[in-house]
Amino acid sequence: MTVEQIYGLAIKMGIGADLRGQKTVLSQLKKLNERFKKLSPEKKEKFDKDRLFNPYSDSRVLSGNPDKEVKRVMAGIDIDTSELLMARYLGDQYDKKIDLVISHHPSGVALADLSAVMHLQADVLNRYGVPINIAEGVMKPRISEVARGVLAINHNKAVDAAKLLGMSFICIHTCCDNLAAGFLDKKIKKDNPQTLAEILKSLKEIPEYREAGKQKSGPKIFVGNAGSRVGKIVLSEITGGTSGSKEIYEKMANAGVGTVIGMHMKDEYRAEAEKAHVNVVIAGHMSTDSLGMNLFLDELEKKGIEIIPCSGLIRMKRF
Ligand SMILES: [Fe+2]
Repeated sequence: MTVEQIYGLAIKMGIGADLRGQKTVLSQLKKLNERFKKLSPEKKEKFDKDRLFNPYSDSRVLSGNPDKEVKRVMAGIDIDTSELLMARYLGDQYDKKIDLVISHHPSGVALADLSAVMHLQADVLNRYGVPINIAEGVMKPRISEVARGVLAINHNKAVDAAKLLGMSFICIHTCCDNLAAGFLDKKIKKDNPQTLAEILKSLKEIPEYREAGKQKSGPKIFVGNAGSRVGKIVLSEITGGTSGSKEIYEKMANAGVGTVIGMHMKDEYRAEAEKAHVNVVIAGHMSTDSLGMNLFLDELEKKGIEIIPCSGLIRMKRF
């Protein structure tokens, strides 16, 4: 497979697992393509063309030739200069030439434009019963806050390192978070837990969470207790770029939500959820990111590509 094909597969799988439904995502892409056709030549020139087929602003090819054939990949949760140097070192010193480095968390332009993917969260909240006007109203200031926040970051640091090292580098964030959310959605629906303890039991059957448990970072109850009944369970905090708005818990409670399963949660968010009597189960950050990445990496490995995990990626195969 080439770098371009790997990137294309990530987008295709991400759309297939999107909690908004594939149909909704494809129709939004179609509308954007129609708008693009009507733009002036100058505006077309400046337009980020990847947006015409990729609805995830935080997933991009960052450096290297897209047509390059890939036999061995180094994949991790966060890729910085150190991991890129390690990839070069593995090739030079151990005869393990790395053709492509894949980061889960965004870098370069994909990090600078992270906030653009957060609109997904309003649609997901709407599917769980929060009226769209409320979901959009609550998300809007938070999206602006994230957009301003990422501007302060030296977002191109790792991309510059990849270019200097001549390393192909891509990041696939929301595509993989969608895969994790879709997987967890099916698992929770199948197991139909009635208490928070039963949610923990269901999650701990997943190998990534079992391994995280051994590393003292397994799933935990953040709000509620083992015997608390779950009510309506939502997976609103697994995908969509980064944490949403802490104002949402009260709106969720009004929409009949009983329990949120998330990846990670700051204390100020936890306090708001507690105030709204919404239970929270935190599955774990690196483990959930690993789950999403693994579902994608399995497809690469099936096509004969060797995967070298690094940077917090708990590699578990499912074939
Ligand atoms: Fe993450």
